Amino acid sequence: MKRRHFGLGLAAAGLFLTAGPALAEEPASMTVYKDPYCGCCTAWADIARDAGYDVKVVERQDMMSVKAQLGVPEPLASCHTVTVGGYVLEGHVPLPMVARLLEEKPAALGLAVPGMPVGSAGMEVPGETPDKYEVVLFGASGASPYASYWGLERTDR
Ligand code: CU
Ligand code: CU
Repeated sequence: MKRRHFGLGLAAAGLFLTAGPALAEEPASMTVYKDPYCGCCTAWADIARDAGYDVKVVERQDMMSVKAQLGVPEPLASCHTVTVGGYVLEGHVPLPMVARLLEEKPAALGLAVPGMPVGSAGMEVPGETPDKYEVVLFGASGASPYASYWGLERTDR
């Protein structure tokens, strides 16, 4: 989120008066759909709120139909499903990758972290070794790797 704050700082300083809407002047609003009994979903929503998003939580018992409606491919399913800036996020997507998505605006439906990797944002388990996992960009042209993570650390660069 460092880059995001940097951008906001420059915008506030008036340096981006003619730069257009590339840098958001106000926090992006985000809707988190989650099962009422999902604790790690609440943890992720709190992390997103801390990262500066305007987070609205909608509790749904029928998460599978929410995912289907929003176009999340079944093999990529996780717990919560999120809409932000015209994109869909599935599961414990690292917040820096959300910022990158909203900045790069790729032609895609959204990002997914399939399953629930230990050590991902909202899935930290004290004393347990974090999992390695992929952040997947998905859309009409299929799914492709967007970033590799080990816990909260990006490992593909
Ligand atoms: Cu979860
Ligand atoms: Cu969740």
